[in-house]
Amino acid sequence: MCGIVAYIGEQEAYPVLIQGLKRLEYRGYDSAGVSLNSRDGLSIFKCKGKVSDLEALAETNIPSGLTSGIGHTRWATHGPPNDINAHPHASGNHRLAIVHNGIIENYSELKEALENLGHRFISDTDTEVLIHLIEEFQNKDDIQLEDAVRMALQKVIGAYAIVVMDKNDPDKIVGARLSSPLVVGIGENEFFIASDASPIISYTNKVIFLNDGEVVVLEKGKDLVITNIHNELQYPKIQELDLKLEEIEKGGFDHFMLKEIHQQPETVSDAMRGRLNAQKGWVVLGGMKEYIDRIMNADRMIIIGCGTSWHSALIGEYLIEDLARIPVEVEYASEFRYRKPVLSQRDVVIAISQSGETLDTMAALELAKREGALTYGIVNAVGSSIARLTDSGSYIHCGPEIGVASTKAFTGQVTLLSLMALSLAKRKGVISESYFRRLISELETIPNKIESILGMDEKIKWIAQAIKDSNNALYLGRGYNFPVALEGALKLKEISYIHAEGYPAAEMKHGPIALIDENMPAVVIATNQSAYEKIKSNIQEVKARKGRVIAIVTEGDKDIKALADYTIEIPLTLEPFTPLLSVVPLQLLSYHIAVMRGCNVDQPRNLAKSVTVE
Ligand code: G6P
Repeated sequence: MCGIVAYIGEQEAYPVLIQGLKRLEYRGYDSAGVSLNSRDGLSIFKCKGKVSDLEALAETNIPSGLTSGIGHTRWATHGPPNDINAHPHASGNHRLAIVHNGIIENYSELKEALENLGHRFISDTDTEVLIHLIEEFQNKDDIQLEDAVRMALQKVIGAYAIVVMDKNDPDKIVGARLSSPLVVGIGENEFFIASDASPIISYTNKVIFLNDGEVVVLEKGKDLVITNIHNELQYPKIQELDLKLEEIEKGGFDHFMLKEIHQQPETVSDAMRGRLNAQKGWVVLGGMKEYIDRIMNADRMIIIGCGTSWHSALIGEYLIEDLARIPVEVEYASEFRYRKPVLSQRDVVIAISQSGETLDTMAALELAKREGALTYGIVNAVGSSIARLTDSGSYIHCGPEIGVASTKAFTGQVTLLSLMALSLAKRKGVISESYFRRLISELETIPNKIESILGMDEKIKWIAQAIKDSNNALYLGRGYNFPVALEGALKLKEISYIHAEGYPAAEMKHGPIALIDENMPAVVIATNQSAYEKIKSNIQEVKARKGRVIAIVTEGDKDIKALADYTIEIPLTLEPFTPLLSVVPLQLLSYHIAVMRGCNVDQPRNLAKSVTVE
């Protein structure tokens, strides 16, 4: 939530900041701003709206030749999105400017204390309080910017990634982080700071991921210096990123979401690459090796996540219990962390997160670690906080996911969980060799099967046309397809703002059936597997109440085709892998409905890709 970018070097800073903000816009998009530093003072431009609104405001007014600056794209927490609450915020004496991602929890106490010292505030934000606090320390002792930042941060409770600049020291910017991500890019005579590496990679692949509690000082013509907030020197590791520019561009698609849906044959293959060999009959997850005994002998696994990642966790439960026979519980990270769970060293806590930065997931992991559980991450963003916090883990290797509604990360996570379940099943000896072999051979065919579903895009678009004006929708599935129903409903509500509910099909009779009439479409995932006959009856129940049915069925299905209003056929697969296929038409259906309703698919209202606040 909220994107930060900063630059100091020899280039014009403004274009670097604007381009960076566009790349970070998925993190928040209710207001945006930049501050440029020159020897004459700070030039701050900010406004409500998107980065394009900021460009319209700033472009003709930005003085040229300014080579250091900070920028921000906001997802509002304290105070509504408006011009005043937009970042950067200036100190009372207009000497300092700050951009901030996170929440200062004790901001009202700090604000009161500062007001008593004569500070006056113009915005509703916690961020403005922080810059006044830094100003207070700087003025009191006439100290350098970085010292004032460190002293102020010692007084702060909460989460932050910040970058601060000082008009009296225009060749320097200072960044710091606690629980919100910040990456430093190191170029030739130039430095970058950003919430993720996407604004940096067109200039350099040398980066440092700041750790919690670290403060970085970037000064023109000098080496960077990293300390903790107590001014003790830190020795960071410079990493070389393997991220290409094409990976964060739309590549000819109208939206990132559509591109990411279409990337799935490739990303599912990438998630499997080097981890399974169907011919030789093995599945290996490198991340499990070191802790394999603890994992194999675990009393139970607890999988935590939020949003779409929680849905893949549910599929993980089905997979691991079904194939590896290890008890699994699934929890929302936000509930888990606050409900005093009983944990021991014999538990394995698996955190699933695309961004690797979701605050609730991180806090839940910290709790699990404190209680002695083994922690394992299933993460997409390389080098992210969750990847570093966990004892071990596996990346899903899907590349950057920019569309706010998660698609390829979901199938990547489910692929990884499938590999995990298979590997554990084999090691535990709870699966027959022949079934194991059939499963891994089948898993290898999934990318091609996804490709064939993508070929039905036109038909799915036609079905979207028929239901795009509904106000509500019901998604039903059983077994492995129940979490897919939840995910399908989430996709629809996230991007098209149609109210949608996912339910286990059998639960329909316990409530949702009361809602069914000719205006309520039901999307039923009715592939030809264990509960086929039962789900057929559920469809009949919907039809009997004049509901319209869109059914996802297995290729060649005749019975449901005869009952449903619309059917989308997907290739046959072994039941544990059905979600990897059945979710794809639901992603496309939501996408087309949202486009037809004129919604902003990649940046749906009120949402953000990476939720770094509670
Ligand atoms: C936000 C995103 C979702 C995502 C969820 C969890 O709500 O909009 O797409 O599923 O956060 O994020 P994570 O990065 O932890 O998977």
